[in-house]
Amino acid sequence: MIRVDVDRIISMMSLEEKARFIVGVGLPGWFGNPPSRVPGAAGETYPIERLGIPSIILADGPAGLRINPIREGDEERYYATAFPVAIMLASTWDRSILEAVGRAIGEEVREYGVDIILAPAMNIHRNPLCGRNFEYYSEDPLLTGEMTAAFVRGIQSQGVGACLKHFAANNQETNRMTIDTIVSERALREIYLKGFEIAIKKSKPWVVMSAYNRLNGVYCSQNEWLLTEVLRREWGFDGFVVSDWYAGDDPVEQVKAGNDLIMPGKAYQISSRRVDEVEEIIRAVRDGRLSMDILDRSVRNILRIIVNSPSFKGYRYSNMPNLDEHAEIAYKAGAEGVILLKNNGVLPLNPDTRIAVFGTGQIETIKGGTGSGDTHPRYVVSIIDGMRERGLVIDEELAEAYRRYVGSMRAMDEYRIRVGLLGEPKAPSLPQDFLSEDDIERFAKRNDVAVFVVGRISGEGYDLKPEKGYFYLSDDERSLLDRISKIFHRYGGKVIVVLNIGSPIEVVSWRDLVDGILLVWQAGQEIGRITADTLIGRINPSGKLPITFPRDYGDVPSWSFPGEPKDNPQRVVYEEGIYVGYRYYDTFGVEPAYEFGFGLSYTSFSYSNLEVERIDGSIRVAFYIENTGKYPGREVAQVYVKAPKGRIDKPFQELKSFYKTRLLNPGEIERIELLIDIKSLASFDGERWLIEKGYYEVRVGSSSRDIRLIGGFNIEEEQCYNP
Ligand code: BGC
Repeated sequence: MIRVDVDRIISMMSLEEKARFIVGVGLPGWFGNPPSRVPGAAGETYPIERLGIPSIILADGPAGLRINPIREGDEERYYATAFPVAIMLASTWDRSILEAVGRAIGEEVREYGVDIILAPAMNIHRNPLCGRNFEYYSEDPLLTGEMTAAFVRGIQSQGVGACLKHFAANNQETNRMTIDTIVSERALREIYLKGFEIAIKKSKPWVVMSAYNRLNGVYCSQNEWLLTEVLRREWGFDGFVVSDWYAGDDPVEQVKAGNDLIMPGKAYQISSRRVDEVEEIIRAVRDGRLSMDILDRSVRNILRIIVNSPSFKGYRYSNMPNLDEHAEIAYKAGAEGVILLKNNGVLPLNPDTRIAVFGTGQIETIKGGTGSGDTHPRYVVSIIDGMRERGLVIDEELAEAYRRYVGSMRAMDEYRIRVGLLGEPKAPSLPQDFLSEDDIERFAKRNDVAVFVVGRISGEGYDLKPEKGYFYLSDDERSLLDRISKIFHRYGGKVIVVLNIGSPIEVVSWRDLVDGILLVWQAGQEIGRITADTLIGRINPSGKLPITFPRDYGDVPSWSFPGEPKDNPQRVVYEEGIYVGYRYYDTFGVEPAYEFGFGLSYTSFSYSNLEVERIDGSIRVAFYIENTGKYPGREVAQVYVKAPKGRIDKPFQELKSFYKTRLLNPGEIERIELLIDIKSLASFDGERWLIEKGYYEVRVGSSSRDIRLIGGFNIEEEQCYNP
């Protein structure tokens, strides 16, 4: 590590240099700003050449580095790997694969000359309609925190920085830049902040990004309680805080609150209402509204990170990361995150099964969401190409009909793919029901299985709707599925739905029509191979849901989403408090379609010999898992704790630990031993963390509702501690 006397540098900086230093240089390549030296990067800091401080580069995002693949006047290509989206990474429940993905992304970041990647995004899945759920991890803060901590460790092992975002309670896209999120301190601390707290303590990220929204009346980027009191004083964060792009309305308040870097800078370029942040900060110091000490605090926080960055060290990047190796990691991560939701014995398919593939998603397969969570990979293997490449026996006439259909529809003005404001593709969804009953009958007669690909895309800036075509199947998807189901079953065939989605959709009204449901999420560039390999059993699915699939939208506890007034929400009150996801469904007896932690396998596992023991500040939980089926496979064991009834309302149960076994061959057994920190049993009573006395039940299971072993322990004395 280079030793640089940061305070000495600060003492040599003028007020103007300091003000410039904590504000970005403007959105690169937009509004007349020069492009970044890494085209497509999201932001750049202000260099102070006379003091030897270079600018550093910040680029998105959560599924892989997002930079422009093509540069003007340059024949080279700058592709980055498209990994599975975060909701799928979370579905792996596998810290080591998250670390491997992080390492690969970190290498791409470094070798393309970037210093900090704006990932992981880790807001809680409060509602299935949030447009960015794909790039967030889970409805549960422990899973979110553990997965992102591993991811950050991987990224930062490469000498570059990770950035946790969006801090905090940024759980919707509707009016995201101004919405006032009203949430109790208990729900904040136990649900919305907890994942950040875990990741900060376990992985020491370089950067945290404050969110756009207001939190209980104050913009997150101007919220001193959040950014200084909780983040730094309580949790010991020692990197810098960056604002989300154009967040907040007062740069001076941002600095005072502890938002160190204001990005992307030059906010006045997008709105006449806004001020020049640099001038405003200089003025505030001059007229005494902002003290030099507070300004120096931000300068110091940023500088301490910069002096460890590749740019500062003059690292000579190659522009040649190991994309082949990273493609393998992307495949492996997807293979670990595929979830089998339903299987009446149809899967895995024999390699010679004749397959008719339906749905335009076989060609227009969705690798990930849009907006800053997008990526520009070298290729995306579509589902149909993946099946072909892996030698599955597909009905080529049907595949050709789809190819022609998609081609001709996209040539029509109505369905043409356009470019959105952020350069993202905007593809109107295609009607799915273009085949006649006779056609389907012909395909049913000569194939054994129908595979229907159902796709959903979403992204930054908008939420999904509780309507057909979004949360529900559209009428044409449904009528196609009805026909496929009726006709294939008439001829003794089977039907499998492949869900290529980024957030839960409704399944209950149609799942009885099909024999198998495979959730491949938005698995990145290798999605077609992952899907094909899972269908034929080369991959034995071992992913588990990081989010509940509700039976219907009306069952979702976040009724207030996306806020009031309905036509233009200004405020959203988190009335459900801590009862988010399974904490709600389990406590209030609401049956989900597929519960949190659910996922089938081609094999089966048995659990045995639970031991629960208190050792000082921890609970030791040990048990065995045996593969009792016919295929090698991995199991995700989940440990839930049910607290005694006391003064504080408690959810029915909460996830306190989890473990993914190694690959177990049929008959193989693994002994598992986990430690649960007693402090993690505490609830926040409004002022303190409190662990009530009584009997705590330890519930070990294959999902939150498939509990296989039960034990417990006593807490004799109430314990409490301050945040
Ligand atoms: C997004 C962030 C992203 C930033 C820079 C914002 O609009 O909310 O997640 O990192 O843009 O692209």
